[in-house]
Amino acid sequence: MFASLKASPADPILGLLAKYKEDPNPKKIDLGVGVYKNEGGETTVLNCVKKAEQHRTDTETSKVYLGPTGSTLFNDEMSKLIFGPDHKVLNENRARTVSTPGGTGALRVTAEFIKSCKAGATIWVSNPTWANHTGLFEAAGLIVKTYPYYDYDNKNLDFDGMLAALKQVSADDAVLLHACCHNPSGMDLNNEQWQQVADVAKTIGFTPVIDMAYQGFGQGLDEDAYGLRLMAESVNEMVVCSSCSKNFGLYRERIGACTVIGATSLQADIAYSVVLAVVRVIYSMPPAWCGTG
Ligand SMILES: Cc1ncc(COP(=O)(O)O)c(C=O)c1O
Repeated sequence: MFASLKASPADPILGLLAKYKEDPNPKKIDLGVGVYKNEGGETTVLNCVKKAEQHRTDTETSKVYLGPTGSTLFNDEMSKLIFGPDHKVLNENRARTVSTPGGTGALRVTAEFIKSCKAGATIWVSNPTWANHTGLFEAAGLIVKTYPYYDYDNKNLDFDGMLAALKQVSADDAVLLHACCHNPSGMDLNNEQWQQVADVAKTIGFTPVIDMAYQGFGQGLDEDAYGLRLMAESVNEMVVCSSCSKNFGLYRERIGACTVIGATSLQADIAYSVVLAVVRVIYSMPPAWCGTG
């Protein structure tokens, strides 16, 4: 069976990491994977992570399965971190969060969830975007199209181009937006631009999918969620994919969350049941690192 296989190309970023490791140059600088490093170029375990791990070892009383949702305590706390404690979607009980293996897991679950809503749906991503987005969505059979984002000539955000493209999107399409610290361009929308994008989303009715991989790494925990929170106030349905790899300093532990917002509490319950069914057939249950209860 394997004889017909052709080797897949290595992921460019992971390939760069391998080349970096091989390079004997003492002045080498790794500009590949975006992880925190000290002056010595090491990604050490943060003291707070060490303490949390010790606390967990000391207090954990069971290794029994948590179920596809993961830790409900973690999920509730993630919802508050994403939306702030007093957001409309929380007060209206329209958001449901599931723990996922990293932000990548959240994106993959979202891809399958969108497929359940509409097989072969189109999702629009920024040009450029994080290299893995296209593969993740295409793996679920979604059609990936791009909207202008970075103006390479002027080294600036092409906001006019972006807005014009989003006005052409269909109501049953999804649009991926980076909440903050846009990867790879580093160019983020300002508050006024978020308002304009939210207005277009509301008018057209497309489904925003917000990828938040760096909450707290831009302007601050709340500031970085400004656009996402504004969008969630404007539209009826939305998905948020959170990565806790960078801001929790837990990269390899694979911590993240997928949050679906429904038009009503009942629709959120239905959407959540579909998300849980998706989880069950991909990896069954997320890792328990993010919480035990
Ligand atoms: C924009 C973006 N989304 C998602 C991810 C995936 O994060 P994780 O490592 O938690 O899977 C990354 C990681 O680099 C990212 O840059």
